[in-house]
Amino acid sequence: MKLCVALDMPSKEDNIILVDDITTACKNLNISTKDIWLKIGLRSYIRDGRELLYALQDKSYRIFLDLKLYDIPNTMLDSIVECEKLDIDMLTIHASCGFKAMQAIANLLQEKESNMLIMAVSVLTSFDSNGFREVYSIEIKECVKNLAILTHKSGLSGLVCAIDEVSIIKNISPSLLTVTPGIRLESTTNPSDDQQRVATLQDAKMACSDFVVIGRPIYRANNRIYTLESILQKIYKDQ
Ligand code: C5P
Repeated sequence: MKLCVALDMPSKEDNIILVDDITTACKNLNISTKDIWLKIGLRSYIRDGRELLYALQDKSYRIFLDLKLYDIPNTMLDSIVECEKLDIDMLTIHASCGFKAMQAIANLLQEKESNMLIMAVSVLTSFDSNGFREVYSIEIKECVKNLAILTHKSGLSGLVCAIDEVSIIKNISPSLLTVTPGIRLESTTNPSDDQQRVATLQDAKMACSDFVVIGRPIYRANNRIYTLESILQKIYKDQ
């Protein structure tokens, strides 16, 4: 399992300070920063764009651009061509853009011999079952299963999902990778904010999730380095 830290801070400088804290915690525990994924989402990318990407690429981390693209197949494909030039390691799209778009993207990456992982968002972890039924008239788990089958057939790398849904995806194919946000620490007193389908690191490990995404429990912690070290210890050191 690998850690993705969400760089969702209110300024570029704050994100760089957060990355410096991650570097300190990694050094203290003797963990390579190449094993850590920095997740740049909409807020940071809209504000700081490529400048932030380039600043982070100099620091030898893995870069995960979380843009959750969703459009018609032709527009998706053109966008992926542009993303491919950014030299990033992981990108998100919405699986609900459909099989045709996902397959075209997978074929394009194969043609270009690209190593960029494309993860398809299944159902956002901020949805609970009532809110989801209200919009899509289907149960979350049924929808995740359908989207995982389509993603697998398309040839893309894997899906973003809640911990509870990892087993559904791995049952379809163990080779599908899973990215799981909505992680909350046992010791924290923070409310789970807008996340509804939350789980702990221990749950994530037991479910065999490949990547956990953690944002607020790290950057809002009273003692950030201590929190980072305890997360890194659980993910990379404890058996
Ligand atoms: O702060 P928190 O730990 O909830 O961070 C979750 C991060 O993961 C945010 O950057 C959010 O955009 C992202 N994310 C998510 N649910 C998804 C996909 C991504 O929460 N399904």
